[in-house]
Amino acid sequence: MGSFYGLILGVVLLVLAGFLPSSSSSTTRRFQFNVELKNVTRLCHTKPLLTVNGKYPGPTITVNEGDNVEVQVTNRVVSNTTIHWHGIRQLRTGWADGPAYITQCPIRGGERYTYKFTVVGQRGTLWWHSHVSWQRASVHGAFIIHPRMPYPFSVPIQADIPILFGEWWNGDIDAIEKDMMLYGSGPNSSDSYTINGFPGPLYPCSIKDTFTYTVESGKTYMLRIINAALNDELFFAVANHTLTVVETDAVYVKPFTTTAIMITPGQTTNVLLTANQVPDSTGMFTMAARPYLTSLFPFDNSTTLGFLKYKTTGIQTIKPPVGPYRVPYNLPQMEDTPFATKFSEKLRSLATAEYPCNVPKRIDKRVITTVGLNLQDCPANQTCKGFRGKKFYASMNNQSFVRPTLSILESHYQNLTTSAYTYNFPDKPPHAFNFTGADPLAGNLNPEFGTKLLAVPYGTKLEIVLQDTSLLNVENHPIHVHGHNFFIVGRGFGNFDATKDPAHYNLHDPPERNTVAVPVGGWAAIRLNADNPGVWFIHCHLEEHTTWGLATGFIVDSGPEPSQCLLPPPDDLPSC
Ligand code: C2O
Repeated sequence: MGSFYGLILGVVLLVLAGFLPSSSSSTTRRFQFNVELKNVTRLCHTKPLLTVNGKYPGPTITVNEGDNVEVQVTNRVVSNTTIHWHGIRQLRTGWADGPAYITQCPIRGGERYTYKFTVVGQRGTLWWHSHVSWQRASVHGAFIIHPRMPYPFSVPIQADIPILFGEWWNGDIDAIEKDMMLYGSGPNSSDSYTINGFPGPLYPCSIKDTFTYTVESGKTYMLRIINAALNDELFFAVANHTLTVVETDAVYVKPFTTTAIMITPGQTTNVLLTANQVPDSTGMFTMAARPYLTSLFPFDNSTTLGFLKYKTTGIQTIKPPVGPYRVPYNLPQMEDTPFATKFSEKLRSLATAEYPCNVPKRIDKRVITTVGLNLQDCPANQTCKGFRGKKFYASMNNQSFVRPTLSILESHYQNLTTSAYTYNFPDKPPHAFNFTGADPLAGNLNPEFGTKLLAVPYGTKLEIVLQDTSLLNVENHPIHVHGHNFFIVGRGFGNFDATKDPAHYNLHDPPERNTVAVPVGGWAAIRLNADNPGVWFIHCHLEEHTTWGLATGFIVDSGPEPSQCLLPPPDDLPSC
């Protein structure tokens, strides 16, 4: 008997010590993604749209925290493709991260690749999207991770409502991107914003394409909000209702209540909404999103509308009511930087014993980098349509990033000698000037073109200060880091001051995210623990800025322990 109990005790101890899998930890979820064209009609324009499995937006992936995930992606079109699992840490599995020419060669037409990774220590809402050219305009979807432990808030949730924002172009997105690069101009702006693929009734020929969701009076819903728009930060509000923010980028935050949210491309935000209002005779309340923009460039300044319908009113139709439609009064105006600033300041990590905030209190290295736009002289014999007949570009520390034609991760892993990239990304701006007060044109510098990477040893506690510039124009830049979450320890307007600003950092409960909205005409300081060996893309999540070169690569070397090393590449890794 004694040895029997001893055996049981031993097994229990092994499980507790993490040597044996507990019953729920080894589930593998498998998905099939076919990248294919599908005719889709919006605003009375029909076009073949690049989709996954014919769906727009694409299918939702739902997994549990701790699951192994395998997604077999088959490319059924002629163009190259890849899929990126935006915000998934990909611990030691950089091969499955997805950005073309950074962590893999693209999947060519007719070929397939299976992305394999494990969802470790993350829970909440993330998303996936193509990471080739501007394909993510239509190739994107939600990635939902159910937590192992109950939510840290006590309100019972009736249901989840995914809310994906996107942009619709009547024209072909490839052609728009190619034109932009050829002429060096700003891209044609989209023809509408969308909620779950639907523009809503404020656009021509669009009333039937409106997102409507039915709620029960008195119940609380979790809105899983994802900004998959290509080029615009957005405000979102629901008429008469408040929103309680509980999570951003798959990390719990200290809950707070707000009349609206601001969300950049790349970011996700979970909010709770209680259906506690008395509807009018239509039984409906509007929800709406419109851009937060300070740009001089032409942009889509329209508003997408959807509806929340109360079930209890007995109204059967789920068609939108007859107009005129009113945008919720609580939706901020497009230039409302004060709202955007206050909203960002309210975001704090939950920072409890179960969900600690592991912000590096001390750093090993600080990198200061400008993020901004540039102008380049027009090459001879070309027509350029950017400002003053020049070409627009964008850069970090005046380096306009050029993607190589090989996979950096593969070449780095194999220690290949190559001139395709170098390890010398400048750790401060090459020229000091009044970054946010520069005469926009006099101060403008032609960027350097190349592939300079930032390389750090395993375990480096790294701070990156992202400094917006006013060359050409102050702009919003949502900067996304692959492979790591970071903590936004400081932000401000004007120029970062390395002697004064760090004294005001929040090192107690800063928000932990994968995408930061750098204040327009200001700076943001982020800290991370470089504990994920591999090659990671860092870039502005406005697709036009990435295309212009607002990006760099970040290399984390493997550590001394086997558990600190990048795993070997999978057999089916595509080649270039
Ligand atoms: Cu959402 Cu580099 O991507």
